[in-house]
Amino acid sequence: MVIGLMLVSPPAEAQIRSEIIQQCAACHGEDGIARDIEVPHLAGQNERYLFNQIMAFRSGKRPHKEMRFMAREMSQAEIEALAAYYASLPSR
Ligand code: HEC
Repeated sequence: MVIGLMLVSPPAEAQIRSEIIQQCAACHGEDGIARDIEVPHLAGQNERYLFNQIMAFRSGKRPHKEMRFMAREMSQAEIEALAAYYASLPSR
């Protein structure tokens, strides 16, 4: 189910559906820096950590309603790509 594969740099993003990035951006910011004080920054975070957290949201091990919903919309490959993408962005 790959819709609208929009190829943008950096390369990691190429494997992620742009609609997914857009959804993440609504809360976590276009650049991975959240504007809302209740939302964590993702930019520059450790890749493995990000991957583990999303997998934990997905399984429900780390409980959070919105993040569980988001995590269940994605394949494991997409989660890996998102973790790599956000880890590659400059932190604040
Ligand atoms: C509706 C708002 C919202 C959306 C959309 C959203 N997030 Fe989140 N995200 C949050 C909040 C709030 C938290 C903090 C959860 C908590 O308190 O445990 C979070 C936590 C996370 C964490 C854990 C960060 C950490 O430091 O532990 C990751 C990773 C993450 N989100 C990735 C994503 C990705 C990738 C997407 C897009 C697929 C996404 N989020 C979409 C609100 C959102």
